[in-house]
Amino acid sequence: MHPILPDSLARVARSGEEFVTANLPRVIHFTSNVWFHMFNADVAHITSCFRKDPAVQATAPSADIVQDRTGTADTPAIAMRDVVKTFGDFTAVKGLDLDIRQGEFFSLLGPSGSGKTTVLRMIAGFELPTSGAVRLAGHDVTRKAPFERNVNTVFQDYALFPHLTVAQNVEYGLKLRKTPRAERRRLVTEALEMIRLPQVADRLPSQLSGGQRQRVALARALVLRPQVLLLDEPLGALDKQLREQMQVELKQIQRSVGITFVFVTHDQEEALTLSDRVAVFNDGIVEQVGSPEDLYERPRSRFVASFLGSTNLVEGELARQLTGSPALLSIRPEHIHIRPLDGAPVGDDVSTVEAVIEEIVYTGPTTRFVARTDAGQTLIVQEQNDSRASGVHRGDRVRLQWSSRFNYAV
Ligand SMILES: Nc1ncnc2c1ncn2[C@@H]1O[C@H](COP(=O)(O)OP(=O)(O)O)[C@@H](O)[C@H]1O
Ligand SMILES: [Mg+2]
Repeated sequence: MHPILPDSLARVARSGEEFVTANLPRVIHFTSNVWFHMFNADVAHITSCFRKDPAVQATAPSADIVQDRTGTADTPAIAMRDVVKTFGDFTAVKGLDLDIRQGEFFSLLGPSGSGKTTVLRMIAGFELPTSGAVRLAGHDVTRKAPFERNVNTVFQDYALFPHLTVAQNVEYGLKLRKTPRAERRRLVTEALEMIRLPQVADRLPSQLSGGQRQRVALARALVLRPQVLLLDEPLGALDKQLREQMQVELKQIQRSVGITFVFVTHDQEEALTLSDRVAVFNDGIVEQVGSPEDLYERPRSRFVASFLGSTNLVEGELARQLTGSPALLSIRPEHIHIRPLDGAPVGDDVSTVEAVIEEIVYTGPTTRFVARTDAGQTLIVQEQNDSRASGVHRGDRVRLQWSSRFNYAV
């Protein structure tokens, strides 16, 4: 068995670029897919994955895996069953069950350290689960090497080949796959049009902006038409304005290619904006899976209610006043309105409480008010700036009012 070192890579290896590490000679098999993962700056992990499982080293990658699109429309693109991952005596993923549908834009959302990247790496094959199963389009791939899965990953740091032009970077995986030249040219042109960058085909990565580089990384992954594209905080390095622009583009691209996207982010707004469905991670478990609206309007735990947007969590005496039960409620700030103290409640089925305005924060389209009830509970109120709340001042005693259907039992 001989390692296959494509010339250009050997050249990069000699030039000492940082994504080619000392581990390189120990990798046994290179195929387009592995290669792809490798130039995503992940050599150390791939080599360890290979060394851990000698059976994988001996497996010759078969060409048809890449084309494997079996399974019916109802077969989940990705199914994880009771997946556990431990590192030493630390359990990073604690018994995960997850179904991701074909063609879905699915986000893994959670704070730093909650296990999102570990889950993504198990889908990609860079990490083996300690126990449990991973299925792609109905096939058990739990013990398969990265290159035996029709999956590609886009990382935050792009990791483009610095000495290759944009077009050559995008073409690279196709070349390794031995796609004929004319076909390659057509696919590269198509991919660059998809990311709306045909004009930079001949530039080097160093001549691009951060957003452009990220789009090229995306094109390089999409050109291979993986069944599943994994994206680990791909927009994290971009400034806010560019990130928002890229979010729109990413969503449009995903819709047009119809590939399943699994998107990791710690940014709840980004997850809500982009996703068909979101899994909310907390400390190695998934607290809830649902559409953005499900999660925002009907959170099933205290964690989900407070991680997605800001909310008022009310329990005890005030909850009893509002609903008759002291159990925990979530009331979103934008559902609460400020009314004059002497105004009668408007409409049926209205919840109301008196409070004193302690803070007023102008945020542009809205104003946020911090109000304290007589029982000492703080409630955040968010009013549109076209509303009648503009005459409210700090220290004013007011009536807070909202429709009782927004008292959401958590
Ligand atoms: N190779 C590893 N060895 C030891 N601990 C790890 C390793 N990879 C991840 N962890 C730990 O697992 C937890 C989850 O990490 P990660 O999946 O990267 O979280 P996230 O992507 O949500 O920020 C963290 O506490 C992290 O320190
Ligand atoms: Mg991570």
